[in-house]
Amino acid sequence: MDYRLATAGDLAGVLALQSKYHVTTIREADKKDGFVTTLFSAELLSELIDREQGLFLAVEGSVVLGYAMAASWQYWSRWPLFQQMMADLPNIRVRGESLTLENSYQYGPICIDGTWRGKGVLESLFERARAGMAGRYRHLVTFINQINPRSYAAHVGKLGLEVVKTFTFNGNNYHELVYDTTRPVDRARVASLTVAFPTNEVGVAEEGGLRAAPC
Ligand SMILES: CC(C)(COP(=O)(O)OP(=O)(O)OC[C@H]1O[C@@H](n2cnc3c(N)ncnc32)[C@H](O)[C@@H]1OP(=O)(O)O)[C@@H](O)C(=O)NCCC(=O)NCCS
Repeated sequence: MDYRLATAGDLAGVLALQSKYHVTTIREADKKDGFVTTLFSAELLSELIDREQGLFLAVEGSVVLGYAMAASWQYWSRWPLFQQMMADLPNIRVRGESLTLENSYQYGPICIDGTWRGKGVLESLFERARAGMAGRYRHLVTFINQINPRSYAAHVGKLGLEVVKTFTFNGNNYHELVYDTTRPVDRARVASLTVAFPTNEVGVAEEGGLRAAPC
């Protein structure tokens, strides 16, 4: 598996993977392992590639098997949920400093093809994305829908992201998390873990206008 930044030639592969796991098109049986809710058009993906250098892929040859997105708050500000997170950033102190629009960025959504989950792609893809953003920002900020326990187990239990608060938007409850971008993923620690996870009902609440990602 290779881990790299996306180029325009990867758009079709990313759109295909998105469609496989998007809440509106995912197979019912796959929902329990999470899904994505933000619908990225080819234009939004192109902007992520060209202006943000923020679309990271796991690929085998030319086949896209995983993606992780990361971008400045300016990019995310078109979605109302992110506007709420942006306004709240100064209230969050991490390692002695308040979060700002300049010292932090938003990571996610991330999506890995079902056949490649639980095989270390998560750690490598997250690590590639972290390394790609670390020179620009000190703090990663993200959120996880509380009805996505697999993503919570992956990010908190395995990768070591820290929950800083919970918040509600349009009737959905989220954990907000941070990560120090100077800290590479501790693969030895991840390898030694067996994460216990709770079972949970999966559902999704509709939002007006643009939808927000569940992570
Ligand atoms: C979220 C996602 C990126 C995580 O990657 P992954 O390869 O599945 O992660 P891993 O399997 O390494 O780790 C997940 C952990 O969750 C736990 N887990 C597995 N199935 C679970 C479930 N149904 N509910 C809760 N926890 C679960 C396991 O403990 C596992 O750890 P283990 O390897 O020690 O058993 C991937 O599942 C995915 O793409 N899901 C669909 C899209 C999505 O939900 N994205 C996140 C929101 S944007």
